[in-house]
Parts: sequence; C-alpha cells; structure tokens
Amino acid sequence: MEETIKVQPARLHELIQEKLIKAGLKKEQADTVAKHLVFADACGIHSHGAVRVDYYAERISKGGVTIDPEITFEKTGESTGIVHGDNGVGQYVALRGLDYAMDMAKESGAAIVGVKRMSHSGALSYYVKRAAEENLIAISMCQSDPMVVPFGGSENYFGTNPIAFAVPRENGAPVVFDMATTVQAWGKILDARSKNQDIPDNWAVDSEGHPTTNPHDVHGLLPLAGPKGFGLMMMVDVLSGMLLGLPFGKNVSSMYSDLTEKRNLGQLFILIDPTRFTDLPSFKHSVETMVEELHTIAPAIGFQQVYYPGETNQIKYDTYMTEGIPVTKNIMDYLESDTVHFNQYGGTGSFATS
Ligand code: NAI
Repeated sequence: MEETIKVQPARLHELIQEKLIKAGLKKEQADTVAKHLVFADACGIHSHGAVRVDYYAERISKGGVTIDPEITFEKTGESTGIVHGDNGVGQYVALRGLDYAMDMAKESGAAIVGVKRMSHSGALSYYVKRAAEENLIAISMCQSDPMVVPFGGSENYFGTNPIAFAVPRENGAPVVFDMATTVQAWGKILDARSKNQDIPDNWAVDSEGHPTTNPHDVHGLLPLAGPKGFGLMMMVDVLSGMLLGLPFGKNVSSMYSDLTEKRNLGQLFILIDPTRFTDLPSFKHSVETMVEELHTIAPAIGFQQVYYPGETNQIKYDTYMTEGIPVTKNIMDYLESDTVHFNQYGGTGSFATS
C-alpha cells in the first residue's frame, strides 16, 4: 500500500495551481484546473485528481495545449450551440461550454452544447454536478483516446468514453452518476502492474484479443457489459466527436503519443430545465423519495447498504473537504518539489506506463 498524506484542499489547490503556472498556464486557467482536480480527489476519483498534474504540466510545457485560447461560442439555434475551444486546457474550455449551456437551458428550457477542440477535461462529475446545483438536469459525455477493443474485436478502436448524469434533489447534493464505458479504468491496470497482481479476466485483452489476467500483457481494455458498453461508447463518440466534425474512433488523438500536438477532443453537454416538464419541488421531492427508498432496501450478503449512484463519492467529498484529502506521498513530493514535470509521458501512446 502506497503511503498517503492528508492534505487540506486549499493547500492542494495552491500546489497544483503553482505547478501548472510554472508549466506555462495562465493563473485563471491554472486555478480552474486546480479546483477540478481537487474536487476529483475529494470525491475519491483519484485516477483523475492530482495524479494528472505531471502529465498536464508536461503537455502544457511542450505546447500540446493552447496557453491563451481564443474561445468562441457559435449559437446554432434556440437551444443549441458550439464552443470552439482552440485546444485550450480541457477543464477551462469545458466550463465555458457548460456556462453557455446553463444560460441557454435556463432561458429556453433545454440546451445541447458541443465543445469542439479541447484537451483532456478530466472527471465529468464536476460539470454535471455544477449544473444540477442550479436545478438543471445534466448529461455530459466526451471522447478519449483509443485503448478499448470493440466487442468481439482484437484491435483497439474506442476510448474509455465516459458519460455522466446529475439530477437535483430536495435535501442534499445532487445525485451524480459518472462512469467510463469500460469495465475498468487504465489506472487500475497500472495499479495491478505495480503490485504484480493478476487482474480478473473480464477487464482486458492481450495483443491477440484473448482475455488476460496478466496486467503486463494488457493491450486493450474491454467495454463494460460486452456489447452494451461497446454500444454506449460508440454513441458517446458519435455524439461528442463525430457530430462536431472531429476525428473519431481510432483517429482520436492519443493521450501520450506526441505531447507537442493539440488533442482536438470533443465533449457534449445536454441540459434540461425540469420546470418545463413538472414543477421543481415535486421533481426534487421525487428524486429524494427514490433515494430514501433505495436506502431502505435490505442489503445483499456482503453489502452494508444500498447507496444511490455517486453517494460513495459524495460521502468522501464531505469527509475529505473537512478532514483533508488523501494524496499519495510520491505525488505530494512532486507537487512540493521544483520539478515542473518528469518528462515521462511523451511517446508512450495511449498506455502510459505510470
Ligand atoms: P467508477 O467505476 O469508480 O464509478 C462509476 C459510478 O458508479 C460512479 O457514479 C460511482 O459513484 C458509482 N458507484 C461506485 N460504487 C458504488 C456503489 N457501491 N454503489 C452505488 N454506486 C456506486 O468510475 P469510473 O468508471 O472508473 O470513472 C472514473 C472517472 O473517470 C469518472 O469521473 C469519469 O468521468 C472519468 N473519466 C474521464 C475520461 C476523460 O477522458 N475525460 C475518460 C474515462 C473516465
């Protein structure tokens, strides 16, 4: 088990922001990314928290992100639009898209906004939760680099293409459901590699497309629930990439192959104002009732209780934001050091080795 240190959110934010500024990012953008990564770690989504700073810093330093993006909004209808992100840092560009979508949904009842040409925007929970905190129903999805075999195939084609939903409720934070469309994230394979532990045979395949339990032989990840996850990841790519005229499928840019190149990724926001369908208090009350009913369901053997989707993340968030966020010692050592980045990601394709 790697040693972890509990860090106060403000301190973690400060260290991440400083590192990204050193890499070349403007203060406002570094602040946005830092808030997002601290949120992810606070939710226990450590695969998309401070662990990403080294990679982001390397890509920013090498020119793979536009430092001063000219972000424009093209309104294409009453409830539709495209944000042209100019390959700015993903979190900053995505939030601009979300802001446009939220204004539009409040005005017209719904919004579908595509964000075109951006870098990696991290955990999607952050965006959908923000919209649901303003009493909107939110869905978001985005492209990611090809590291997944299609159902029945032996070559990588799709990314781990995540999709997230959030709905407001009566008492407490919105219900947020946020997942990659693969059985497991790449980070879990890396974890197994570092511990030389076998992985279950339904996570990944080797170079011949055979299921493998050896994490060192992994060549491609498997879609979750076979053809169902496969279908879902295809639709995510169609809606967040192809629809915006961006490269899709195996032509989506690799996360780690050439860090001097811009990524040209896409993300889609779909927002709905529930008051156009029902009254807000009733809707939020119904969500609350569902949550309460789920909580009363007797747990299955081996489980302590039924949690609503996102509840375990919310519990961590509430705890870690007051008691400190667990961050591994090696990440803290890096954040507190003068090293801008370790120059370890470029050239490793989709499958970073660390
Ligand atoms: P996960 O497998 O940890 O969780 C998926 C969902 O299941 C979450 O909503 C979680 O709250 C819920 N859940 C977990 N345990 C539960 C339980 N006991 N009871 C009820 N619900 C439970 O998430 P995954 O698939 O590993 O994704 C992690 C993050 O990675 C997400 O934030 C996703 O947006 C992000 N991601 C981002 C990508 C990008 O390119 N920007 C690519 C892939 C993933």
